[in-house]
Amino acid sequence: MTTLTADVALSSLSSRAEYEAALDRLREASLAYYGDGDSPIDDATYDRLRQQVLAWEKERPAEAVPDSPTGLVADGAAPAGDVPHTTRLLSLDNVFDAEGLLSWGASVQRRLGRAPEGGYTVEPKIDGAAIAARYRDGHLVQVITRGDGTHGEDVSHIVGQVDGLPEQLAVPATVEVRGEVAFTQEQFETANEVRTAHGAQVFANPRNGAAGTLRAKDRPYRLRLTFWAYGAVELDGESFLPAGGTHAQVLAAVAAAGIQTTAASPAGLHVVSDLVEAQARIDAIAAMRAELPVGIDGVVVKLNDTAEQQSAGTGTRFPHWAIAVKLPAVERQTVLEDVVWEVGRTGVLAPTAILAAVEIDGSTVTRATLHNPADIRRRDLHLGDTVTVYKAGDIIPRVQAAVPSLRPAGAREVPLPEACPNCGGEINKSQERWRCAKGTACALPALIEYAAGREMLDIDGLGKTYVAALVESGDVTDVADLFTLTTEQLMAASGSAKRAAKLADQVTAAKSHPLSRIFCALGVLGTGRSMSRRIARHFGTMDAIRQADAAAMQEVEGIGPEKAPVIVEQVAALAPVIDKLIGAGVNMSEPEESLAAQSAGPLTGKVVVVTGKMSGPLEAYGRSEMNALIEKAGGRAGSSVNSKTSILVAAPSTNGKLSSKAAKAAELGVEVLTPEAFAELTDAYLT
Ligand code: IVH
Repeated sequence: MTTLTADVALSSLSSRAEYEAALDRLREASLAYYGDGDSPIDDATYDRLRQQVLAWEKERPAEAVPDSPTGLVADGAAPAGDVPHTTRLLSLDNVFDAEGLLSWGASVQRRLGRAPEGGYTVEPKIDGAAIAARYRDGHLVQVITRGDGTHGEDVSHIVGQVDGLPEQLAVPATVEVRGEVAFTQEQFETANEVRTAHGAQVFANPRNGAAGTLRAKDRPYRLRLTFWAYGAVELDGESFLPAGGTHAQVLAAVAAAGIQTTAASPAGLHVVSDLVEAQARIDAIAAMRAELPVGIDGVVVKLNDTAEQQSAGTGTRFPHWAIAVKLPAVERQTVLEDVVWEVGRTGVLAPTAILAAVEIDGSTVTRATLHNPADIRRRDLHLGDTVTVYKAGDIIPRVQAAVPSLRPAGAREVPLPEACPNCGGEINKSQERWRCAKGTACALPALIEYAAGREMLDIDGLGKTYVAALVESGDVTDVADLFTLTTEQLMAASGSAKRAAKLADQVTAAKSHPLSRIFCALGVLGTGRSMSRRIARHFGTMDAIRQADAAAMQEVEGIGPEKAPVIVEQVAALAPVIDKLIGAGVNMSEPEESLAAQSAGPLTGKVVVVTGKMSGPLEAYGRSEMNALIEKAGGRAGSSVNSKTSILVAAPSTNGKLSSKAAKAAELGVEVLTPEAFAELTDAYLT
């Protein structure tokens, strides 16, 4: 087979040879997309490749091959069985944005000769496998896959295994219900656990898993699936369906009989009167995608009135009366470059996958969660593997599975650590999640020393030895314990009453530090001093920080979609520590003046870069004190001079030569201030 790289697939096809190579690639990938194979490309690349082929065929209709996959239901990939469908089981045409939806709307108007009067329905496009379920006298008698649209496979063996598709209805109806079978997120996790327990490979993704499960008749285990109906047709000339009604009424009748429909999903089925409202619903569904119990890959808009559906008609593969508005892919393939291990607060060794950068749902992903060593082995991950990576909304991306057919020669299994990556000590491997044998004591001393640092809690008498003693004795199990230490405990650790008294004073003083310092002392990954100040000033109180979801967290300057959920998750995990801090009377808010500077300080909205040695009133200021000063005055510290820089603080050149930062500032016309002039500007904030 001619292999096209994903990059080639993204550019437009320019020759017959490229067109043919793209067809080969599409045929191979569609087998996996609609079946249960290993896909050599991910969904986003698949969709783009398909668009390329379609564009080429549209431009040169005479040259398009007659059996092009783009002209077949399921791109010609789904195995056709021998059961004839009552009426063709069609696929849907796709658009990718609001503009596409409007042009579909225009085509519907052309076909009807007027604007639709019955409104539109908007419902989720469940990312699973299509089936037709035949009920006779209220009894589920046969389940058939879509196949090639005219014939499908009998997969009645799944009866009894599918939530939402009861064997017996509440009414003695004879009807064929059509819809999507899929794994909910929860069922998918369980399915993979069951599979690995049986020595089978984990599913590459829920859709592949559902398609495979439908067709696998002799597995030694049964996996639960879920059904969502999106339509129904007459069977044996009989139907309990409302005649001449609406799509919403059809689904309501199906639901009343006891079958789950798309209307029952949290995304719901909404009837709207125009496409502007439809688009608003699409946006709302897209926003709730991460919280949905099942994966969706788009939103389907249909004409609600079944008579209008009939007038709009049906093409060879798609109905003209419905359209799928695809959402950005949340699953991509990329290369697993490395696995790094970090030791959490509780001593758990957490593996993180380092990935070749890939764009997923609008953000660049370079790291993803892996669970534990057993899971890495179950997924048979090798360094250099092409892996499927998922990112659903706010959830931290995770590595799902490797694509074994793309494994480079000589790739080695992901190495597992032999010693604790933090302290070099022994690892306790008694559970699936490995831990440092020292447990909390492994990472804790370093965290407590960090928290006691000058710019956090400022308990400067608390050095390495005392911290080690406090952790060793079990008196300190987290940062909050520092605030409830008794004089006796401090004496035992420091060995003297005088030292203990001094430490106790510092601890008492630390209780009234601004929130930014307290927050920083928690040691949340990715929130150093500067970031902690930004978070504290943005939210004002610990309560507000705790209430922030990933979207709210992203409003803080410098926190992107990759970092936000990690911070939110860690803050949530720190709940017991934060509660203890509150209980000990530690300040949980940012002082008014620092909040005021945020909106009305001399540097509000300005990015300040500092270079060289400071002088005059700022002589004693190191880089970190300068950063704190800039932020106190409402600005933001930058590290390099660029078009966003507002001020460069630099001492004048003494040898006539400009530093590289000063030269860049001159080139870009950035204001340059001497340390003295800057001190004057920020006078109110000097300490
Ligand atoms: S309507 C004639 N509605 O997506 C109407 N399809 O990519 C055809 N799908 O073949 C389908 N959710 O398997 C419809 N709410 C929904 C859907 C849905 C998922 C699937 C269906 C279809 C495929 C097209």
